[in-house]
Amino acid sequence: MSDRRDFLRFLAASPLYAGLPWAAQALAQAPDAEPMVTRAQDALDVFDLEKVASKTIPMSHWGYLMTGVDGEETLRANREAYAHWQLRTRRLVDLSKMDMSVELFGHRYASPIFLCPLGYQKAFNPGGEVAVARAAKTRDALQILSTVSSTSIDDVIKAREAPIWYQLYTTNNLDVAIKLVKQAEAAGAIAVAMTVDLPIGRNTETATRLARADTRTCTSCHGPTGPSMTGRPMFAGLGLSGPLVNATPALTWDFIRRLKDATNMKVLVKGLESGEDAALAVKYGCDGVMVSNHGGRATETARGTLESLPEIVAAVKGRIPVLVDGGVRRGTDALKALALGATAVGIGRPYIWGLGAFGQEGVERTMDVLNNELRLAMGGVGARRLKEITPAALIRRA
Ligand SMILES: Cc1cc2nc3c(=O)[nH]c(=O)nc-3n(C[C@H](O)[C@H](O)[C@H](O)COP(=O)(O)O)c2cc1C
Repeated sequence: MSDRRDFLRFLAASPLYAGLPWAAQALAQAPDAEPMVTRAQDALDVFDLEKVASKTIPMSHWGYLMTGVDGEETLRANREAYAHWQLRTRRLVDLSKMDMSVELFGHRYASPIFLCPLGYQKAFNPGGEVAVARAAKTRDALQILSTVSSTSIDDVIKAREAPIWYQLYTTNNLDVAIKLVKQAEAAGAIAVAMTVDLPIGRNTETATRLARADTRTCTSCHGPTGPSMTGRPMFAGLGLSGPLVNATPALTWDFIRRLKDATNMKVLVKGLESGEDAALAVKYGCDGVMVSNHGGRATETARGTLESLPEIVAAVKGRIPVLVDGGVRRGTDALKALALGATAVGIGRPYIWGLGAFGQEGVERTMDVLNNELRLAMGGVGARRLKEITPAALIRRA
């Protein structure tokens, strides 16, 4: 649930309460009476959208969206990492012309905040990935489409009316991975981000508990044995024989060579958290790296991604773009990641809250809220364009 409501509950029980301004006292007394927004445009932060989505998304799907692995310490670490940094403000800089746009592989996007690949989006709203693509189009944002998308890549690119990036799950059959990549390229994707953080599966404890608590009959969407990868549109027409598993225990850096030989798309690895791996990514010819721990859904008790970012930036030495995701909920979070050397900053759950709450408009509102917060944060540190966001904009919390 939202940080803000937790905070208000904390305030209500705190000795500080008596000294609070009247409005804050009123809110702290009745946090649950806080009205839910009924229109996307009324959401003041992404947590307003989260609150609506928590009611509109069915319980088992909410569990799939919100949870991490084991005891969810990595999930928490992603958020906490941002609180370790504060902004170091600069004043009296001429901010009359500001530009938040970013260029990646020859394409310019309006903002460095991009939409991470996230599977099965029709589970959150019937509009699914097409609604997200339409929102990405109106906001000129980078969208990365998951291998386990609930919509075909052709339909998504048609809705986006511009190239997107494709996220690759290699599965237990690398020949299928190559087929998937060629299919994405033929459809018009311009980059492939190969996710490498789930080599042997994961333990999604809380999601499983919430799925058990969901009393609906799910076989019409998931089939009798639960969700299957091969039933997803990305796999239709590939002539598959036999089931696929989303785990590639034998995957090594050598596959990058095979991937690069198979496609003209830019190749990125998604799911790196160490400088050594980032250096290997450069050595094996990757065009970019994505610092990610799958939103706290891969290795448990890892660092927050913001903590991993500096060593990766140091290892890459500016040779290829470094993208980061995990726990970004505010424009100030995005600014902190950019200041620590990220080229662009991804969001996962927040845009799905928007999607679940209000479809395309909700995704647009998510981007508007975060982009506006980033613009204000840039103004606060005297940065007019992304290049002017430097480590000097940050100070480690004492
Ligand atoms: C429900 C859910 C599904 C996801 N599906 C995928 C996926 O299909 N492929 C992938 O590479 N990452 C996937 N991710 C990870 C996201 O791409 C991204 O790394 C993460 O959500 C960022 O963290 P955030 O949600 O805290 O913003 C998924 C994340 C969530 C929450």
